[in-house]
Amino acid sequence: MYILAIESSCDETSVSIIKDGLEEISTVILSQIDTHKDYGGVVPEIASRMHVENITIVIDEALKKANMEMKDIDAIAVTYGPGLIGSLLVGLMAAKTLAFIYNKPLIPVHHIAGHIYANNLVKRVEFPLIALVVSGGHTELIYMKEDYSFEKLGGTLDDAVGEAYDKVARVIGIPYPGGPMVDKLAHEGSDVYNLPLPLDDDSYNFSFSGLKSAVINLAHNEKQRGNEINSANMACSFQNRVVKILVKKTMKALNDYDVKNLIVAGGVAANKGLREALTKECEKNGVNLIIPKMKYCTDNAAMIGAAGYYAYKRGDIAGLDLNAKAVLPLK
Ligand code: KG4
Ligand code: ZN
Repeated sequence: MYILAIESSCDETSVSIIKDGLEEISTVILSQIDTHKDYGGVVPEIASRMHVENITIVIDEALKKANMEMKDIDAIAVTYGPGLIGSLLVGLMAAKTLAFIYNKPLIPVHHIAGHIYANNLVKRVEFPLIALVVSGGHTELIYMKEDYSFEKLGGTLDDAVGEAYDKVARVIGIPYPGGPMVDKLAHEGSDVYNLPLPLDDDSYNFSFSGLKSAVINLAHNEKQRGNEINSANMACSFQNRVVKILVKKTMKALNDYDVKNLIVAGGVAANKGLREALTKECEKNGVNLIIPKMKYCTDNAAMIGAAGYYAYKRGDIAGLDLNAKAVLPLK
């Protein structure tokens, strides 16, 4: 079964063709980062306008790359939430139009289900499993008994981890999106700043606003004293705390639940410090870890095609009245 998948929930216009949920035939990702960089973050109105300009080009390109035509496609999958409403609507309208004109089933996909199923493109995941979801909008530990069964064990009480990365980046003078650059700097610096380990308790919940505030306060205090903070050392100190608590709570979940896989999902899964720490800890404890390839950690349509296949198999087919949802629980 060939699924043409569309993702446009934030600032990437992406289209992919995926075979049977597991094999990538072609993917095109058009990022708007260079435009939004000038504003220090994603400007929703600009994002939706750029999706409008690019969506048909990206669809054509993905088909061309796959050497396929619309008649070869069996279904259309699309991210319908959560995300920026204007951005989501552009991808959704394109998907509905294709489904209507070519008479194909329309498969609605939750963005985070997509991030989770990106792992199937590495290797078919085995259930039950624990998923650590770490993105710009989510930080959650999820137990999956089987395909498309999501039981939330815990999540962030305030900022998402990617959000904290982007805010800390701004404080230490790194342009949007700061995550990848903070990660790079962290490997060049030393852990010299005395930052707290956030929400170090027995729950599966996370909290990153206290850690973020500690970075901001330290930077301000140093400035008032006429000192500069060392960006690399701050990046290293911050990243060490984040990775430590993410790994600690994930290992606790793996201890409490008998699972076959640990999978990681979302943009922050691209973080080298986190990848290294989880790999090491999982080797030590005999846990089968799967992490998506770097290019499938941040937003892309391949993951939507991968999730879409299993959504279709359980009967998730939408009518043309499907609407985009800025806020959408995972179920
Ligand atoms: O999954 P994603 O592309 O979009 C959302 O669904 O939110 O995640 C984007 C987030 C941004 O906050 C970005 O700074 C962060 O992922 N990110 C990283 C890294 N690469 C991307 N954070 C830390 N280290 C990285 N290497
Ligand atoms: Zn995402």
